[in-house]
Amino acid sequence: MEGTPLHEAAPTERMESGMNVILLGPPGVGKGTQGVLLAEAKSWKHIATGDILRANRREGTPLGQEAQKYMDAGELVPDELIVAMVKETLAAMPGDQGVVFDGFPRTVPQAEALDLALEQLGRRVDRVVVLEADDDVLVKRIAGRRSCPDCGSVFNVYANAPKQEGVCDKCAAALVHRPDDNPETVQNRLDVYKAQTEPLIQFYQDRAGVMAKIPGEGGVDEIQQGILAAL
Ligand code: AP5
Repeated sequence: MEGTPLHEAAPTERMESGMNVILLGPPGVGKGTQGVLLAEAKSWKHIATGDILRANRREGTPLGQEAQKYMDAGELVPDELIVAMVKETLAAMPGDQGVVFDGFPRTVPQAEALDLALEQLGRRVDRVVVLEADDDVLVKRIAGRRSCPDCGSVFNVYANAPKQEGVCDKCAAALVHRPDDNPETVQNRLDVYKAQTEPLIQFYQDRAGVMAKIPGEGGVDEIQQGILAAL
């Protein structure tokens, strides 16, 4: 599949490109966990819009300040801000660099903008991996999540606890419970996912051979094997 044109761009408009894979699924299903593993396994770039936004918040950039109110409420940050951010990241990458998108696209306009941006770079969406899990599993995972504000590592008090409670294994920073991981905001994030992001499953389902659905309730290794097999 790698390098096979999907859109009708003329051959001269396309350059050799790496694979572009989207991880799609609800909050807490494991997109970030699997995105890191997949990027490591394939030497791809991991573009996680939530992580980029959180980094902007930490650094106090205008984008981070603008995004904060949406993130804290569990709402989506406006499409134009997200699309500009992703296009900038894509434009700075070598043409043959594979990418795993995590948390993007999240709306149909974002998906349409991604198609256009990739096409302009001689790329295309090669695979959309949908991770699925019941809400009670998602709520428990999010309740148990502990995140490193410095290096971005993610742990879970139930399934993947840090060696020392409250301390990041990688950089020794104090772990935090994400501000948007409180129960009320989590419920809104789940509702927003169903209303605004789930329609993307239909959007990509219509493209032959692009979508793979993987159960997201098993162990991390089992899910990773499922994703690698689906590619
Ligand atoms: P974002 O950071 O993307 O959050 P999300 O999509 O809600 O996803 P999560 O990070 O909550 O979960 P995940 O699926 O990555 O799961 P994880 O691997 O951490 O977005 C945050 C906010 O930013 C949005 O609400 C919005 O405001 C804004 N935003 C971001 N992108 C945007 C966009 N494109 N457009 C508009 N706004 C945007 O796993 C969860 C926990 O479970 C962890 O503790 C992990 O250790 C554990 N775990 C993982 N896998 C397993 C397993 N198999 N078994 C047991 N535990 C597991």
